[in-house]
Amino acid sequence: MRHSARIHFRTFAAVLVSTSFCAAVFAQTSGELDTQKDFDASHTQGPGDVKEGYESKDYQTRSRSLLKRRGVKKDLIRFAQNPPLGLPPVPIPAGNPLTRSKIDLGRKLFFDRRLSINDTFACATCHIPEQGLTNNEMRTAVGVEGRSVLRNSPTLYNVAYLARLFLDGREISLENQVWQPMTSHNEMAAPSIGWVINKIRRMRDYDGLFEKAFDGAEPNILTIGQALASYQRTLLAADSPFDRWYFGNQTNAVDESVKRGFGVFSGKGQCIVCHTMQKEHALFTDQKFHNTGLGFLISFNKDSEETSKTTRVQLAPGVFVDVSNEKIKAVSQQKLPNDLGLYRVTENPNDRWRFRTQSLRNVELTAPYMHNGKFDTLREVIDFYDRGGIPNELLSPLIFPLNLSEQEKQDLEAFLLSLTGSTIPEIVADAFAAPIGDLSLEDPNWAHEETLGY
Ligand code: HEC
Ligand code: HEC
Repeated sequence: MRHSARIHFRTFAAVLVSTSFCAAVFAQTSGELDTQKDFDASHTQGPGDVKEGYESKDYQTRSRSLLKRRGVKKDLIRFAQNPPLGLPPVPIPAGNPLTRSKIDLGRKLFFDRRLSINDTFACATCHIPEQGLTNNEMRTAVGVEGRSVLRNSPTLYNVAYLARLFLDGREISLENQVWQPMTSHNEMAAPSIGWVINKIRRMRDYDGLFEKAFDGAEPNILTIGQALASYQRTLLAADSPFDRWYFGNQTNAVDESVKRGFGVFSGKGQCIVCHTMQKEHALFTDQKFHNTGLGFLISFNKDSEETSKTTRVQLAPGVFVDVSNEKIKAVSQQKLPNDLGLYRVTENPNDRWRFRTQSLRNVELTAPYMHNGKFDTLREVIDFYDRGGIPNELLSPLIFPLNLSEQEKQDLEAFLLSLTGSTIPEIVADAFAAPIGDLSLEDPNWAHEETLGY
């Protein structure tokens, strides 16, 4: 099971960017990091983590190497107790009150690569801190050993408020949600829930932590979900320039273009109908499911990109080849299903291609956009809405051509860029201080066949 070099070139189609590379390099930040107390990650280097000679002059990742990962622990519970300007109170389920020890434990689990089958994949490998808790470098996610995932990794900022999770709303709580990525064959690929529980119980660095956080309870199907949910509930990003202007009445917090852009957003552009706001706060999502036509487009392969004969495939950073789509089909381990959105959950034909409205908070940081990462820039998204989406028999009646002028488009984009939360640098600094699962062979925590007890 253990390989010393984790570079997989097995399938052309899947290995757009080597996952081993991504597992080893966590986020680069554009925000300011608090470096008062440096976190030393050098001891986390293990086999497969040495990437010398792997980057080329043609390829530069925006991720930060483990050795350069620096952070300092923050007291994130404050955000959930007193949400930043622009956000409503955080709903906390009665069965899982928020405590510091649960948040700390959840954070440790979130960054721990050992929760995956081959110790390469943590939650944070796809939800990368300060790549907006998404992955800016991939349209759709890639899991263990380069396996393709159907959708784009959504941001986890402000995920605490979502009543239904995933873009088709198939999950009902953060507590439950965690088991899906952990046990999905194409994500972290743990063979079962029990396998994860067994592994955590055997890793000595978890000794006592669950017991402390959960009144003596050990790692189990409930407490693992509760800890991860607690950490995610603190990932609140608001108090943006827009919030300071609109909710905080600071006249100069944004410029005139943003103010005009808000006018387009809430007027001619009609964006506010789905990306909703309340009087004292705004999530910018109605949490409902709509058909913008994008899913339809992909389903029927009407996309020009998809109908071309070849695909440009990245074999390794900086190394590209054009491969015929026939060949890719032939070597693909799995064919991803057609993405019918909400229909997958309700089986109601009218729900085909409906996806949950995404929040617009922090969109500056969360490219590429939409459920399939179709658009690289906000301008592309705006042009898409301006054209009236993609016509299809189930297109939402709320989507129609807008006839925005160039100035209106620019202003709308300026408004979207004003929604970046001021709390983010602190969340990222805290994330960088988290251990990521020790991969050194000398380390007694190294979990492999024998230590799993088989
Ligand atoms: C291989 C990449 C990958 C890994 C690893 C991963 N996720 Fe995700 N995550 C995704 C994708 C892709 C989606 C959207 C899937 C969908 O809508 O069907 C998602 C969705 C979510 C959502 C729902 C967000 C929303 O807007 O509805 C949450 C919460 C979440 N992930 C948390 C986690 C946690 C916790 C872990 C670790 C236990 C994790 N993820 C591991 C890729 C990943
Ligand atoms: C009919 C409801 C509706 C209207 C009107 C609407 N949106 Fe959306 N928006 C959605 C849905 C649904 C998604 C998610 C689509 C997907 O994932 O394929 C979305 C996604 C987005 C995203 C991508 C967010 C991300 O993180 O990927 C942006 C940006 C966006 N909308 C901006 C706008 C703007 C700007 C307008 C007005 C011009 C607008 N929307 C109007 C429903 C709507």
